[in-house]
This record gives sequence, C-alpha cells and structure tokens, in this order.
Amino acid sequence: MTRVLVTRDLPGGAGDGSPLARLREALGADHVDVWPEFDPPSPEVLLERSEGCAGILCMITDRIDGAFLDARPSVRAVAQLAVGYDNIDVPACTERGVAVTNTPDVLSDATADMAWALLMAAARRLPAGRDAIERGEWGQWNPTWMLSSEVTGRTLGILGPGRIASAVARRASGFEMTVIYAGRSEKPDFPGTFVSLDELLARSDFVSVHVPLTEETRGMCDASFFSRMQRHAVFVNTARGPVVDQPALIAALEDGAIAAAGLDVMTPEPLPPDDPLVSAPNVVLSPHVGSATLETRTKMAHLAVDGLLAGLRGERVRHMLNPDALDAARTKDRS
Ligand code: DGY
Repeated sequence: MTRVLVTRDLPGGAGDGSPLARLREALGADHVDVWPEFDPPSPEVLLERSEGCAGILCMITDRIDGAFLDARPSVRAVAQLAVGYDNIDVPACTERGVAVTNTPDVLSDATADMAWALLMAAARRLPAGRDAIERGEWGQWNPTWMLSSEVTGRTLGILGPGRIASAVARRASGFEMTVIYAGRSEKPDFPGTFVSLDELLARSDFVSVHVPLTEETRGMCDASFFSRMQRHAVFVNTARGPVVDQPALIAALEDGAIAAAGLDVMTPEPLPPDDPLVSAPNVVLSPHVGSATLETRTKMAHLAVDGLLAGLRGERVRHMLNPDALDAARTKDRS
C-alpha cells in the first residue's frame, strides 16, 4: 500500500483531470492524505502525519532533512511544489535513496512577470503616487512633481543566469535595454553579456537577483554590494529573502545608496507589519507570490504530482534533482 502526504491543498481543484484527482486516481483516494489547513503543518505535525508514508508532496515551508528521513524510513519520494528547494537537504535524500523532484520551467514566465512588475512599480514610484492620492497630497499637475526613473534604454543587470533570469532578460528587449549578467560562469545561450559582479553593480540601472539560496549566496547582497550600485539604481529580488542582508538593504534605502527596491521575497516570511522593511523608503513589497497565477500554480501542481509518482515508481524524470537516489534505493532493496 502506497500512502502519500500532500502538505497543502493543491491549486486546480479536485475535479476530473486536476492534479489532486490524478494523484488519487493513481494511488487510490484513501491513500492520499491532504493537510487541510491554510498554514503549514508544524515540524512535529509533519512528522506525525507522515508516518507510514512512501511519498511527500511538500512546499517551501516544510523542512525535509536527514533527521526527518531517519524518523520516516518509509519515505521514498519527495516532490517539492516550487523550483527552489533550500528547505530540502538533497544530499541527505540521495544518501537514503529518496528521490527529490521540483517544478522548474513552468513558473519562469509568471515569476519573470512579477520581477518586471516590481521593477516598474519601484522605478515609477507607484506606491508613492497612490499614497499621495490617499493622503490628499495630489495637487495640480506640476512638471517637477513625482519624478521617477526612465526604464526604456537603460541597463538591466541580472545576478544568476537561470531560467527565470532568462525570461526576465527576454522581456527587457521590449524596453530596448542593455542586459548584462553575472554568475559563476558564462552561459552561451543567455540573452545578455557576461560581466564580473563589480562591473554589473557599477553599470546597472536595475539589478535583479535570481540566484538560489545556498551557503554561498546567503547574505551576498550586503552593505558592500549596495555601496557598489549606482545611487539611482533599483534593486529587485524575486529569488529568496536570505540572499539579502536585509538591515543593509534598509540602510542603503535610508541613506540613498540606492534609489528603490522591489521585493517579492524577504526575511522573515510572512513579514510582520511592523518590520522596519515595511516603512523603509521607496520599497515595493509583494508577499512571495511570484509564481502565483492560477495557470502557473496548476502547472506546478501537475509537475509535482508527476514527480511524486515517478519517484515512487523509481523512474527518472527530467525534473528529478537526484537521479542517483534511484540507484541508492535499488542497492538498499538488494541488501
Ligand atoms: C519557487 O518556486 O521556488 C518559488 O519561490 C515559490 O513559487
């Protein structure tokens, strides 16, 4: 009997052909346990609820590590409903023969759209304009009021040339922008010019971050990073909050070291309403919803279901992060 835990209700409903219906059809409805609450299960409840499960379809809020897997040796497959997977210790999964999948590609366009929405809103000061209307500070039309930054023809600097970054860069051609990027190495197919991080920060009018969260990238956007940006530049982050040293970002906004920021991710999440970031000047915030269109989230759920079923069957799929786990699982079965 193959039981699985799905740690949140899935987008796309439960009707015929939906991600959840497909999972129930494949495994039997009684074998699919869906966590019913809006908020994630606590680590203790996650552990308790996954007893006897062969698979977990999880979210970025669920920590899956060696200790969890040792306590739940029945788990053979973990499918993450997200492209980022810093909540999962993938090497620990591989060692234990647990296959891990994520949901790349299907969310690149929606997340790139959000990066652009933040870039435009921060550049053109949309929240400040709305605040002025709300506060009754909108006087007669005046040629010097509410001036903001031009986007067309400027330079966009991209940090981390992955799939979402590529979708962001493609959109820049409509704004006749120069695209430069920095990362570990040059990517021949990336629509932009490879430069060093120093050059990127010195030249960019807009800096958009697209690196995964790892020990190497944690806190990489720090005081030195912001001091190397241009004073009129706008900083955009749709990747992960902890890539940014947030107090340093707030200081950079307050001191005018940079002009503005547009952030879909921050620390902590959810951000308390009284966090200093909320009242920092020239900052546009959205609540980690880069991929949150119905279409994209439904595609992500389908891909996560495909990944979970493949992992349970011991089949390789393109979005498996550790195909070696399947070999480890076979060796374990034989021993
Ligand atoms: C991801 O996919 O990693 C996002 O942050 C969640 O949509």
